[in-house]
Amino acid sequence: MSDLLTIGEVSRRSGVASSALRFYEERGLIASERAGSGHRRYPRPVLRRIAFIVFAQRIGLTLDEIGAELAKLPPDRAPTRGDWSRLSSGWTSRIDERIAELQRLKAGLTECIGCGCLSLDRCRLANPGDRAASLGPGPRYWIGDRRPA
Ligand code: FES
Repeated sequence: MSDLLTIGEVSRRSGVASSALRFYEERGLIASERAGSGHRRYPRPVLRRIAFIVFAQRIGLTLDEIGAELAKLPPDRAPTRGDWSRLSSGWTSRIDERIAELQRLKAGLTECIGCGCLSLDRCRLANPGDRAASLGPGPRYWIGDRRPA
């Protein structure tokens, strides 16, 4: 088994598209070496970093936040189990927030699918006069904001 992987090998092994890998590299989240041909070669431990990036994105971290977390890893050696464990130890509250958000979304979907009432007192889709815009961007009532009185 080679310790240096091509971008195609990393893509196949990680399940992340080559274009996304190049994007991660442009953002400084992963790094490659250049072979004599100029092609990217990734050290094998990059697979763990990519798994971390994918997981962190799924629990709602931004790429900037992920970059800040990854910067805590040692730059001169493959991270140990302890290094990874320290990194993820502060994530419990973030995961709890994400679970609560998903439960709110699930409750909203369950109410509205097949309903179509757009009832002003109970439907989170109803937004007469676009009053939700005063609360900020996005589906404000779905993400937990209350209707203005
Ligand atoms: S459409 Fe009826 S509750 Fe949302």
